[in-house]
Amino acid sequence: MFDINTIEVIKKIYYDYPNRLKDVLTSLSERQQISKEWLVEKLNEYKHPYRNKLKGGDLTITILCCWYGMLAYKLVEKFKQKIFRIHCVDFDFKSKRINKRLFRKIDNENLRKGILTQIKFWERDIKDFPDKEYSESDIVINTSCEHLHQQTIYDTIDKLERGTLVVLQSNNYHKLQEHINTVKDLQEFVSQYQSRLINIEMYEKDFLEYKRFMILGLKR
Ligand SMILES: C[S@@+](CC[C@H](N)C(=O)[O-])C[C@H]1O[C@@H](n2cnc3c(N)ncnc32)[C@H](O)[C@@H]1O
Repeated sequence: MFDINTIEVIKKIYYDYPNRLKDVLTSLSERQQISKEWLVEKLNEYKHPYRNKLKGGDLTITILCCWYGMLAYKLVEKFKQKIFRIHCVDFDFKSKRINKRLFRKIDNENLRKGILTQIKFWERDIKDFPDKEYSESDIVINTSCEHLHQQTIYDTIDKLERGTLVVLQSNNYHKLQEHINTVKDLQEFVSQYQSRLINIEMYEKDFLEYKRFMILGLKR
């Protein structure tokens, strides 16, 4: 009736990180799955050539503020380009440990299937992620803009090479205290990045109590 492996994983997370269980389940919720799959779908459809497409090699993707890392696995599963490496950056020291618990079975399955994408976790503030790794990334994703000061997001974009594909998500869910940088609407979100990005494609998704906004664009 239920997937036993999943139940065991949740039980172990509950034993070792009881205060995190709600947050972990939220990170895997239906809305989160929809938002992450929506991102991969629009990434697959992005029509402008970006850095790696010009180089012709395998891609390096960096996910900033990655939470427990589900997006990396959605990319491995559904992104149509060949990925060499995914950097997952989050300053929460439990992020990597919980990720390993959640996705160990999928890691093993991927290895068995010969899917050799490296998923590397960095326990870092995104301000301290090395400049070299920023500049070597072909795609940089941040779905946590509402949690960050605007200048912090700008500083990350300013470290990227020209032509890097930048994917950002934010929302208008103003009620949460930790949402320090929500936006009113899609137009406001886009206007924050027009001086730094070109060939912007923009989307919104209505979740009834709030809307999620997404833009994809190339670093100028
Ligand atoms: C609630 S989660 C993700 C929410 C986002 N809406 C999403 O769906 O991906 C926000 C994450 O950002 C991380 N975070 C916030 N500020 C950060 C920073 N300056 N550097 C690294 N990680 C950060 C937090 O630790 C947390 O894991």
